[in-house]
Amino acid sequence: MCMRYGSLGRFVCLAAAGLAASGAALAQSPAARLPLATAATEPLLVAADLREGTDLSGEWRYSIDPYRSGIAGFHGETPDRGQQRWLDVDVRKAMAEDNRTLFEFDLAHSPAAQLPGSWLAATPELRHYQGLVWYQRSFTVAPGRKGRTFLRFGAANYATVVYLNGQPLGRHEGGFTPFAFEATTALRDGENQITIGVDSAATAATVPPPVTDWENYGGITREVRLVQTPETYVDDAWVRLTRDGKLAVEARLRGPAAANAPVRLAIGELKLELAGKTDAMGTWRATMTAPRALVRWSPEQPRLYDVTLSAGDDRWRDRIGFRTIERRGPDLLLNGKPLFLRGISMHEEEIGANPARIITPANARALLGEIKTGLNGNYVRLSHYPHSEVMTRAADELGLLVWSEVPVYWMVAWDNPATLATARNMLAENILRDRNRASVVIWSVANETPVSEARNAFLRTLVSDTRRLDDTRLVSAALLVERDRAAAVPTMTMVDPLAADLDVLSINTYNGWYTQDRLTDLPGSVWRVPADKPLVFSEFGADAKAGFHSPDRQQKFSEEFQAEFYRKTLEMADRVPTLRGMSPWILKDFRSPRRQNPDFQQGWNRKGLISETGVRKQAFAVLADYYARKAAVGAR
Ligand code: GCU
Repeated sequence: MCMRYGSLGRFVCLAAAGLAASGAALAQSPAARLPLATAATEPLLVAADLREGTDLSGEWRYSIDPYRSGIAGFHGETPDRGQQRWLDVDVRKAMAEDNRTLFEFDLAHSPAAQLPGSWLAATPELRHYQGLVWYQRSFTVAPGRKGRTFLRFGAANYATVVYLNGQPLGRHEGGFTPFAFEATTALRDGENQITIGVDSAATAATVPPPVTDWENYGGITREVRLVQTPETYVDDAWVRLTRDGKLAVEARLRGPAAANAPVRLAIGELKLELAGKTDAMGTWRATMTAPRALVRWSPEQPRLYDVTLSAGDDRWRDRIGFRTIERRGPDLLLNGKPLFLRGISMHEEEIGANPARIITPANARALLGEIKTGLNGNYVRLSHYPHSEVMTRAADELGLLVWSEVPVYWMVAWDNPATLATARNMLAENILRDRNRASVVIWSVANETPVSEARNAFLRTLVSDTRRLDDTRLVSAALLVERDRAAAVPTMTMVDPLAADLDVLSINTYNGWYTQDRLTDLPGSVWRVPADKPLVFSEFGADAKAGFHSPDRQQKFSEEFQAEFYRKTLEMADRVPTLRGMSPWILKDFRSPRRQNPDFQQGWNRKGLISETGVRKQAFAVLADYYARKAAVGAR
């Protein structure tokens, strides 16, 4: 099935049948018959986080359902009434009125949890729960509603089904990108009841698959909002600066009056107005010479403009920075000037002893401030999945360039059409959400994926989708390299055929941590990589437990060893001619079930330069000083 994506009218053929068959248990059950929200089926509601609406954050009731009895009966059939958590029923009243009635749930009187946020921090019993949890809350709507109402999710991990007042609204697969369902007809004046089933279980077909190196934060991890729009509204809009100095706008309306409709773009501070009309499909494309007064966005000067798009009764708005990013041979150019990416990698996990993946603006600024101010950085790799829009908006405001990626990570089911469809949809949802974010400069399609024909074809499809959806940014992927075992010094060669398809070559290197190399061996390393493209070290790192010391720097997991690892690796980096950036692994210690050394890890990956509570380790200053010197001499 070839479906339109957003305003570009780009047609990307999704194996939609595959989407229905892929993913967690939710998808392989009667719930699979619910309409599936994907970027191709819309509504996209781009910049919906800035629209009028009602935030449904706060207290919700929840009930675990480890055998998914609310999704399918004993033999996979539709569950019986006594298991249908979404029913619009007062359970206690119904059972009191007729003693033949049996319900084996009652969400209205189940335990309470605060949303958004993963259930793992809700109670000790849920710390390691992976599976299906039902959430429910009621809310009141005043009479006299006009226009349309949508239920919009910032993200829910991993597979989600949504019901409103007992009616199915739809389902979604993917734990890190926004989705929305229209609720206009299912809403009623007065009290409404919303019930959501979220299943965190990963399977061989999901994206990512079950084995990763980070905590699988299950649940509704980002905001749920009721979003109001007029009958006809701006569903997608993309406003950017082209490499030849034009301001380009592409917008798509949805609704009865979308076709041949007058539209107007306005940027008040630039005294800019551009009027036009949508075509028969409700799409408008236009360009104009960028005003001379336009100040380009950069990390040094993160200038954002209030942009409004008027269409009938709708006023779509966003805060947008205008800049260009390109590659010329091995150089990266930001606004035409050479650029060196002084960054670090980061998971979506707030600073604190018991994180629940709650990224508020304050939490985002606390993390990004450590990079911008603490490390003298200008760049952040938001690994290994699309982070919250709160984070990319904070990067726009603070002035940090962003690498954004989808969790096509390690051992993905390369030859499963359903997995490819899920990955393509997730990529599209990520790109269509953040195309207006000046901070985002690189889209990454994979991390450390072993070379094979099936993997090459899978990733080439993602690269082509990326270029079709956004021809203004650079494409990359963290690639594996081959080690020459016979060489006298560490000698690595990039032989990955995917390198030919990418703009930026990226390597994760752990020589000196996972290998037998001495730290003193590192500066003499040889990297054989194509000379005509920029290279970034997308990862390098060593664990250290904050406060654990080894004065002779010999003990792994000591702060001294980690600091020396950084000194030697940075010495090595300075000798790589085409290196144009780095995002060492990682800003902050993060939860990882794979890391169970009882003396040092206790379920945390300790490669952070700060501990989970924000304590800076010795290596933090090593990198901060390096970046301060780098910033002083400019990119080249
Ligand atoms: C890998 C991977 C990370 C992981 C890191 C590590 O390169 O990309 O997700 O956490 O190495 O081993 O710490």
